[in-house]
Amino acid sequence: MSIFDKHEKIETNATLLLVLSLLVVTIGGIVEITPLFYLQNTIEKAEGVRPYSPLELAGRDIYIREGCYLCHSQMIRPFRDEVERYGHYSLAAESMYDHPFQWGSKRTGPDLARVGGRYSNEWHVEHLIEPRSVVPESIMPSYSFLKDTPLKIENIAAHLVANRRVGVPYTDEDIENAAADLAAQANPDADTSGVEERYPKAKLGDFDGDPTRLTEMDALIAYLQMLGTLVDFSAYDAEANYR
Ligand code: HEC
Repeated sequence: MSIFDKHEKIETNATLLLVLSLLVVTIGGIVEITPLFYLQNTIEKAEGVRPYSPLELAGRDIYIREGCYLCHSQMIRPFRDEVERYGHYSLAAESMYDHPFQWGSKRTGPDLARVGGRYSNEWHVEHLIEPRSVVPESIMPSYSFLKDTPLKIENIAAHLVANRRVGVPYTDEDIENAAADLAAQANPDADTSGVEERYPKAKLGDFDGDPTRLTEMDALIAYLQMLGTLVDFSAYDAEANYR
């Protein structure tokens, strides 16, 4: 009786095949999953990553509401062409405070994981009002209404609380100061010492070109301008991995 005959026995007996398949899958599952319980953390910490400032968080909400993720990803894959175009590949830690994450599965437009600081605020205002005014071949829709829509800020503290419930380490102080921090970040004349201390590297000032009003455009651009700017990658050489 060769080994193939034995195998035939398994293949012709549905119950035996099922039981043995389950056994194999169980062993495989245990081998893959058990080590995860013994790791402190599956995400390596990256220096500089912090929770979003209230204004950035409000901007992120608008980004999600408007479905920007349907055309834009926020995850640079570790391939040479992506790293050359967008910068250092994304680290898991960079989206550890994202609820929900914005990795995306489709790029009709470019990846935005490191768009922060690439353009001026004025460029973003022009681009969001009429993309074709700065990129003639663009097929991105216009979002000009954002500049005329006042930013709703009543719920911002509750929004931080909700994020804290799912693991973002906002402190009581962050939550108490949420509304004030939000206003200060977008006001060129405000005392920004609090927001700067709580949210290092937050971009400050008027974003939408109209310092007299706080609009959804202010929040969205504050968010775009911080994307990918928290971790200092000058110490890393991403391309070195591909030589
Ligand atoms: C229908 C698909 C589509 C949607 C939806 C969309 N975009 Fe775009 N976006 C594009 C395309 C295509 C480009 C490249 C051409 C250009 O720069 O306009 C682009 C470019 C950009 C750029 C410049 C990126 C770079 O590196 O040059 C930014 C920033 C941007 N989009 C932000 C947004 C935001 C914010 C939203 C949501 C409010 C949004 N986009 C929604 C298609 C889209």
